[in-house]
Amino acid sequence: MSSTFFSFEIKFKDIGGRIGRLTIGKREIETPAIMPVYNPNKPLVSTMEFEREFKSRILMTNSYIILKNDELRKKILDSGIHKALDFDGLIATDSGSYQLMEYGNVNTTNREIIEFQEGIGSDIGSFLDIPSLPDAYKPRVSEQLEITLQRAKEARDAKFVVNAGIQGSTYMDLRERAAKEIGVDFELCAIGGIVRLMEEYRFSDLVDIIATVKKNIPANRVVHAFGLGHPMAFSLAVALGCDLFDSAAYALYAQNFRYMTAIGTKKLDELEYLPCSCPVCNKYGTELKELNDDEKIRELARHNLYATFEELNRVKQAIRENNLWDLLSVRMRSHPALLSALKKFAQHNEWLSGLDLIRKKSSFYSLGDESEGRTEVVNVRERVNRVTSENKIEISPFGEVPAEILDIYPFGSIMTPEKLNNRIDTTGIRDIHKVKKIMEYQFGSGADSLIDDGVRIKRSRRTGRIRWIYDKKELIASVRASDHFIIPKTPLAKKLHKFFKYPGLRVVIDSEAIPFVSEGKSVFAKFVREIDMDLRAGDEVLVVDENDNLIRTGTLVLSPQECLDFERGIAVRIR
Ligand code: GUN
Ligand code: ZN
Repeated sequence: MSSTFFSFEIKFKDIGGRIGRLTIGKREIETPAIMPVYNPNKPLVSTMEFEREFKSRILMTNSYIILKNDELRKKILDSGIHKALDFDGLIATDSGSYQLMEYGNVNTTNREIIEFQEGIGSDIGSFLDIPSLPDAYKPRVSEQLEITLQRAKEARDAKFVVNAGIQGSTYMDLRERAAKEIGVDFELCAIGGIVRLMEEYRFSDLVDIIATVKKNIPANRVVHAFGLGHPMAFSLAVALGCDLFDSAAYALYAQNFRYMTAIGTKKLDELEYLPCSCPVCNKYGTELKELNDDEKIRELARHNLYATFEELNRVKQAIRENNLWDLLSVRMRSHPALLSALKKFAQHNEWLSGLDLIRKKSSFYSLGDESEGRTEVVNVRERVNRVTSENKIEISPFGEVPAEILDIYPFGSIMTPEKLNNRIDTTGIRDIHKVKKIMEYQFGSGADSLIDDGVRIKRSRRTGRIRWIYDKKELIASVRASDHFIIPKTPLAKKLHKFFKYPGLRVVIDSEAIPFVSEGKSVFAKFVREIDMDLRAGDEVLVVDENDNLIRTGTLVLSPQECLDFERGIAVRIR
């Protein structure tokens, strides 16, 4: 791995998507991020505009173009790339692979282009991976992949962070092999060879490729979707766990007088109205069409970038609100090829549900046929199966649900087109029965037995909802107002610990972390040694040492796999 300081941690999650903090050297950005591509030969938007207008702290440019232009090469070798481009954010460079893909050959070698990127001071560099085309003759793809993997080895000790290309065309066995090999060695994995798929609207193949790669690399790898710059696919790619995008598309589309939107591309000439209010559209309106070609291309490029950044922000806000599924449901109805990709996405729901949260901030809106296959449905059904009850009620799309647990997420807030008010009156059910069944839902079959029939259940005077559970005078648990999940205090935690065998409900931490965690400090992912893989982010968990002594309880904020794979960031917030 590169000698440059590199760190990546997750701050917020939804489905397979994450908002992260990526630090390279002394520079830090929030992901998912878009790297606008700067073409040093014919920039349509300046690096100053990237920074000031679009607030971008990262860009991508092409080291091969620089290498092949005598004047540029000298200038940039001389002053370093940050100074030459007058950009203080992160600078990523590509290697000529795109030219290799477009023109069939390039006039450089892997070693030369790696050393050149070191020489100009790229923060993130690329080796000369070979992007195979979709459905290319498999033996040829396989040969090209072996060369790519060999070239990756030559880049292992590069001075920059390597943007390591994973190839393999549309062959999942080859993608798997490439992902496994690249994923071991590199912190930044780039899913390559997907530009043609995007151009041909083969989003369904794109889903399979991203999912296959993600399943075969550690969860803490930063994932770059190489050449994916169209906002119409951002929600999909982010939900699958992509963290970085690059866009040359904003400029390439502009040069063809194409106007990007989050739901597809329009020909500027055919627009009678502009469906956008960015500074460009606001200033010109449809008079944008009357500008001379050079001006029109420049302004279109700016509009395209606004549309691109806007959609990424929308996706990030959806992660914060935990309603990324709702955005997917809307966006994936912009084109039949996207709807087909959404169906494909749901076929990966077993894997995705392991990454997703068990409770969310937003109501569950059913917005189409895909609801059945949503990650929340997979997780909730799994949990409901633990609960023994004779009072089951059909709650679409979750199936039969015990009436006793209808106050908890998501049942308190489901809306379907058939039933806009799904709230079922649970006031007739005794509180003790509710609490016992929620125990089973959250912690497992038999957990109801840990609540004595004689406990005192107190309701909040303000909301009238169940709030505290006392055994004699002792508070043994509280109930979270927002989603009605039970939060065990020490007495109940001890009972759970005794009742459920190791490693059930547990996060096992390294002895080094115990002094801090005992005091109530968070558990960092790096100290997680073992974990119950049936847990989900959002669950209440038992934190134990390596001899299974109970240390504290807390809320799991990452998925189990993320806890194991990440070295940075918080895994459990201690109570
Ligand atoms: N630009 C677009 N696609 C690719 C790719 O697969 N590899 C590299 N290095 N650059 C690209
Ligand atoms: Zn606009």
